[in-house]
Amino acid sequence: MRFTVLTLFPEMIEQGFQTSITGRAMEKGLLSLRCINFRAYSDGGNGYVDDYPYGGGAGMVLQAPPIYRAYQAAVGDGPRPRLVYMTPQGRVFNQGLAQELAKEEELYILCGHYEGVDERVLEEIATDRISIGDYVLTGGELPALVLMDAVARMVPGVLSNQESGGEESFMNGLLEYPQYTRPEVFMDRPVPEILKSGHHARIARWRRNESLRRTWEVRPELLEEVELDKADREYLDSLRE
Ligand code: ADE
Repeated sequence: MRFTVLTLFPEMIEQGFQTSITGRAMEKGLLSLRCINFRAYSDGGNGYVDDYPYGGGAGMVLQAPPIYRAYQAAVGDGPRPRLVYMTPQGRVFNQGLAQELAKEEELYILCGHYEGVDERVLEEIATDRISIGDYVLTGGELPALVLMDAVARMVPGVLSNQESGGEESFMNGLLEYPQYTRPEVFMDRPVPEILKSGHHARIARWRRNESLRRTWEVRPELLEEVELDKADREYLDSLRE
């Protein structure tokens, strides 16, 4: 998977992505990252890429031409890529969207700053507008890293067998069950007895119930979308009582 990021702060993206699992995957050639600073494409090379908004109001707006020139330089004669503009006005990111984007061979991401980006360049180049949640950050770089990380770990080979999560939050539509490792007792809290029983079926049932309980407690709306069997429904009924 090739990521191309159009940003005023390439070092932020590079530092973040070169760290840990995604950094290792880049070394292995499974992921690549190209950051393009569209300040280098400012009008007449003056370094200014923003201007006052038409119609007035606070803040500045990123101009269309520098972003478009940077985009064109990156795309060259290649096909029009999928380009995600990170914005709180986009559809909200989730695991399903990460899985969908991970199927692309190449993904472009545009990070905005200040009050926004001239709508006309977005109409021209953006195929998607994505928000990472209902809050406003100072720029699109952290959202881009969030999206890139979630997408990258879906790319085959990026996670080792040990890391790869068949059983993780959202994979089955539920929040993940709690995990424990040694020591057996920590600050008077023992590991749940069942996990030491070696009884795989009962452990699986206990974990499923813990997933159901957590989801019911903090994200009950997720339960609407999950396929529940008889044992699940009985357990949920017992919680409601
Ligand atoms: N830029 C600023 N805030 C954002 C958010 N919540 N999601 C995506 N991009 C953003």
